[in-house]
Amino acid sequence: MEMEKEHRSSHPRLVLVPLPFQGHINPMLQLGSILHSKGFSITVLHTAFNSPIPSNYPEFVFVSIPDNLSEQLISADDLLPFISLLNLNCGVLFQECLAKMVQKQEVENEPSIACIIYDECMYFCDAVAKYVKLPSIVLRTTSASTYLSRNAILQLKAEGVLTSQVSTSQDLVPGLHPLRLKDLPVSKIGTPEIFLQFITNIYKTRTSSAIIWNTNDVLEQPSLREIQKQCQVGIFPVGPLHEVAPASSSSLIKEDNCCITWLEKQKQNTVLYVSLGSLASVDKKELGEMAWGLANSKQPFLWVIRPGSVDDQEWKKLLTEGFVEAVGENGCIVKWAPQKEVLAHGAVGGFWTHCGWNSTLESISEGVPMICKPCFGDQRVNARHASQVWRIGIQLENMCERGEVERAIKRLMVDKEGKEMRQRAKNLKERIQLDIREGGSSYNSLNELIELIMSF
Ligand code: UDX
Repeated sequence: MEMEKEHRSSHPRLVLVPLPFQGHINPMLQLGSILHSKGFSITVLHTAFNSPIPSNYPEFVFVSIPDNLSEQLISADDLLPFISLLNLNCGVLFQECLAKMVQKQEVENEPSIACIIYDECMYFCDAVAKYVKLPSIVLRTTSASTYLSRNAILQLKAEGVLTSQVSTSQDLVPGLHPLRLKDLPVSKIGTPEIFLQFITNIYKTRTSSAIIWNTNDVLEQPSLREIQKQCQVGIFPVGPLHEVAPASSSSLIKEDNCCITWLEKQKQNTVLYVSLGSLASVDKKELGEMAWGLANSKQPFLWVIRPGSVDDQEWKKLLTEGFVEAVGENGCIVKWAPQKEVLAHGAVGGFWTHCGWNSTLESISEGVPMICKPCFGDQRVNARHASQVWRIGIQLENMCERGEVERAIKRLMVDKEGKEMRQRAKNLKERIQLDIREGGSSYNSLNELIELIMSF
């Protein structure tokens, strides 16, 4: 066990336990930054696997726990078995570490630990907190609508409606307009059984005192109201966390800043930013259709092709056969981008996204409309909301085909329809800005959360 930095202060300490994936590390560290700015000391208890980079947060203490997990590239298909293994492997070691921290605080008169805040997927933390007699709070990093739709899956399963046809059914999910059965996050990640077990594990009512949510009333008030009716503990929608947190990066992959230089040369609102997040992958055929759809649209694009995100090592060849000549200076491809900076850049006028919840929030927060191509899980729920509820996105429903891609790009980047979506996205951005300022619901939720933590 390695203490990477010693830090003393008179403020209560909070112990944060993130799930070690980019889409979960980001909101947890953003939450840590916010709470640190309110006077709390922060300790991040993390796995050695996908360890956050401590130098990005010199004000935090990072404690790495050996997790007996080999450093491997996890794809969406491996995710659920991996999370299950993580929960099995980590309990004892995290418990020992926390027990030592509590002991040390008593002996050395260190600032006391007020509570443990853990990612919903690190559900072993509930028992650990109970063992060391500390209060705990859950952080949910997906949308409130995702929570309701996962609950609907359990309900539909009990009613026998969850059949193999669900993935293509256009029927609406009762009570969850405008979600269709095909939008439910049943996903390709694992068999239904393993998925149902996963939902039960993350939603089981345990001893935690509250739930923090990376969302807000502007985006999801009806869902949040419904959830509060169902929950026995208080819920605190304090998002979007990245907007409230002081700017900092928690990227696990090195960001390539050359794309900002490229963006500087482009005209206002003309560039389509393309990224499928940190886990989704495409096959060689899809990559080709994406590439030629982009090229044929003649619209400038900035495309993130993450290492390992194409299931064929030979993909680079595919992009050299005529593609580079067809695109010329009109396209820029990088392995990983400073996404928030990219979305905030005036040249970016649209985002082709997989609709991971962080990417969705980041796009909305910058007033950037989307082309939504969900890949798995909660992404379908987010895509449906972007296109049908907030009406700031065009959803690509079918397999990627270059003609469909080209048409969608033109609709978003050139047509009146896209301009209207951009306007609606800008309006949402403004409302979110108001919501995180004094008097806004997100601002108030954060204050109430701090009061609760101080009362422990
Ligand atoms: C995962 C799930 O896939 C997603 O559906 C869930 O909501 C959260 O966990 P991920 O697929 O990585 O996350 O997507 P997303 O939630 O969008 O998170 C990706 C993060 O990586 C974002 O914060 C984004 O800003 C960042 N990113 C992405 C970069 O910093 N640079 C890039 O080039 C791409």
